[in-house]
Amino acid sequence: MSAFLDISHIDMTFPTPKGEFTALKDVNLQIKKGEFISLIGHSGCGKSTVLNVVAGLHQATSGGVILNKKEVKQPGPERAVVFQNHSLLPWLSAYQNVELAVKQVFGNSKSKAETKEWIEHNLKLVHMDHAMDKRPDEISGGMKQRVGIARALAMEPEVLLMDEPFGALDALTRAHMQDSLMEIQNELNNTVIMITHDVDEAVLLSDKIVMMTNGPAATVGEILEVNLPRPRNRLALAEDSEYNRLRSAVLTFLYEKQRKVEVIPTAAKTEAKNSEDDSAAASA
Ligand SMILES: Nc1ncnc2c1ncn2[C@@H]1O[C@H](COP(=O)(O)OP(=O)(O)OP(=O)(O)O)[C@@H](O)[C@H]1O
Ligand SMILES: [Mg+2]
Repeated sequence: MSAFLDISHIDMTFPTPKGEFTALKDVNLQIKKGEFISLIGHSGCGKSTVLNVVAGLHQATSGGVILNKKEVKQPGPERAVVFQNHSLLPWLSAYQNVELAVKQVFGNSKSKAETKEWIEHNLKLVHMDHAMDKRPDEISGGMKQRVGIARALAMEPEVLLMDEPFGALDALTRAHMQDSLMEIQNELNNTVIMITHDVDEAVLLSDKIVMMTNGPAATVGEILEVNLPRPRNRLALAEDSEYNRLRSAVLTFLYEKQRKVEVIPTAAKTEAKNSEDDSAAASA
């Protein structure tokens, strides 16, 4: 049986002033309908690039994406995106930002009252009903991110693409959003691809964790199946041996197999370098 979402042999090369940069090389991923996939990998490896290709915002240099037997060539309302940096229209209120997306997807098929109820329902899900009439510059980063999530959910997309959706949230709100997302996905059976840097979040939410190698020419390194029964409870899982095995498999991939050595100058070294520069300048 062919996959519902088939990411096949994707290469992505960007032109840069120093020549071509190959971000992705031969990325392959087959996703079933209703599956929850997390993409995890070090910063800069190419996670957002993969998501943007699936969203239809970037065209792969070679290879392609087939969704439900149709090739993805451009963005479409059946694929809602929650961006890494919230992307609300600044002149519209939270309510109006969600309304715009709802009208785009449902047209006139919902009555005025139904539309209002649906927008409010989705803002309530992300605990933003108290601030629906505020504009983006009047709310915090985490609140903007929650409106972005409400907007995506309100579109009832077949595929939900989320780029670090909970990164800007405090721990409690984050836990609440993770639980709501699990409930919503269980109810609507959306197919989800979520980028995250959080190992616990990946294990808690996913059916599969797709771990990417470091770039350039990043690709899928390993795929970890998460067969923990649902509904999942974060407190019960903390003691669960299978949960802890999966968690340590992801950590091993990130910090042993794909260890990334970044040289960050320490304060002492920077000071020494500055005083060398000073004495060089003095003696010049
Ligand atoms: N438009 C572009 N032009 C040139 N290089 C790009 C472009 N977009 C992305 N890249 C490069 O491709 C690589 C992958 O970028 P990408 O944004 O997909 O990484 P990421 O895994 O999402 O990182 P992060 O976790 O920091 O968000 C990086 O090296 C980035 O510099
Ligand atoms: Mg990114």
